[in-house]
Amino acid sequence: MGPARSGVTGQGAFGRPPRISSGDRGFLLGDGLFETIRVYRGVPFYMSAHLDRLAQGAEVVEIPLPSELEDRIGSFLAEVLGGQGGREPRQGEGVLRISLSRGEDRRWGGAAGDGSAGLALRWIPLERSPAWSGDPLTARLQGHIHHRALTATLKGLGYLERITALRRARALGADEALLCNAEGRIVGGSTSNFVGVTRRGALVSPGPAEGARPGVTRGVVLAAAEALGIPVEERGVEVGELAELAEIFLTSSIRELAPVGVVEGRPVGEGRPGPTFLRLRQAFQDEVRRLSRDPGPAR
Ligand SMILES: Cc1ncc(COP(=O)(O)O)c(C=O)c1O
Repeated sequence: MGPARSGVTGQGAFGRPPRISSGDRGFLLGDGLFETIRVYRGVPFYMSAHLDRLAQGAEVVEIPLPSELEDRIGSFLAEVLGGQGGREPRQGEGVLRISLSRGEDRRWGGAAGDGSAGLALRWIPLERSPAWSGDPLTARLQGHIHHRALTATLKGLGYLERITALRRARALGADEALLCNAEGRIVGGSTSNFVGVTRRGALVSPGPAEGARPGVTRGVVLAAAEALGIPVEERGVEVGELAELAEIFLTSSIRELAPVGVVEGRPVGEGRPGPTFLRLRQAFQDEVRRLSRDPGPAR
């Protein structure tokens, strides 16, 4: 694995160290959005879904998308992956982080930036997929996300609630935090979506109405479930229902699918990855292989 590399628009991507102004509103106020896209064998996975989500969020918070965004991302990736050589399996494995800030504005707390949105691209090399191996995760209930808050479902830069929940869960000896919404139902992991499997074999997963992000990985998993004939219920999950679930797993671009074996000290089902998780993980891996062998146009 090589080092992480970054480029900041307007400052020359490479050759010079990228800098972000200390007056940047993304840095000062979390006034911006981001996307984290897994790249397999040099091919961004579900790039158009990520860019659509970024565009929708940017419209809601009125941050203009930088012009020629896709071209800039394409040039950045070509540079970090080193052209064709980057399509070699080990070199092309990583994460593309797109950070979009409203930019610099001297009026602290002012309603709007000056329209010159800032774009920062970052490449983080990763080991090969699958991301999860070893023991299932242990989780504690920590932290809250108000399901009606804009920041619940928008992929905004501010992660203090989620980071603190994760740190507190880790201080209690767990691997992950499960956050609840203002009505006490499960929202998801600190940076992941929640999927449960009922004893009848249906998937249950809180969606945006419960305060969960519309995760791209979750979308791929729910579509795979439907294709496999597994019933899907997008709905809230009460804390009391956790003990009734046969399986729990978390989904995100970086984690892919990660099983949870223990919540609040109690085993989930048999306490090991269940059959539905294993089927869906296989389906996800198949999708990764299909798209990374035959990438087609990036968007
Ligand atoms: C709060 C939150 N929910 C869900 C996700 C998963 O989204 P995706 O599958 O699009 O990576 C993330 C990923 O960063 C996240 O931060």
